[in-house]
Amino acid sequence: MYSDKVMDHFKNPRNVGEIEDADGIGEVGNPSCGDIMKITLKIKNNIVVDAKFKTFGCGAAIASSSMATELVRGKTLEEAWEVSNKAVAEALEGLPPIKMHCSVLAEGGIHKAINDYRRRHSLPEWEEKNLHIHDHDNDVECQH
Ligand code: FES
Repeated sequence: MYSDKVMDHFKNPRNVGEIEDADGIGEVGNPSCGDIMKITLKIKNNIVVDAKFKTFGCGAAIASSSMATELVRGKTLEEAWEVSNKAVAEALEGLPPIKMHCSVLAEGGIHKAINDYRRRHSLPEWEEKNLHIHDHDNDVECQH
């Protein structure tokens, strides 16, 4: 059911923890399953120099957060914003369709952390376009 990459990132998640003096913090929850995720970012000269996560959630959410933090490291804020849940799932060599929405948590957490940074620097927040974290009415239910 899960790719080797998903299993690897689930069993050996990268970047677990919390950056103490983070420049941006994002917390998101998935209301249909109650899973939550916190992303902390260190940002220097518009570059994400460090990213960490804490996830209270399913294996797919853990693997997605791990991969997402890997993908945004070293990227500009603009590039990091474009790291979609689909890109995370692709980098994980796929997620079962019923678990695709778990990867949305990672995208949402990164977006919130970026916007937290922008708010702190009096920059206009960027707009969420494709996120459906709170739009689960027609979505599959989370299943552990
Ligand atoms: S994030 Fe809730 S089941 Fe995956």
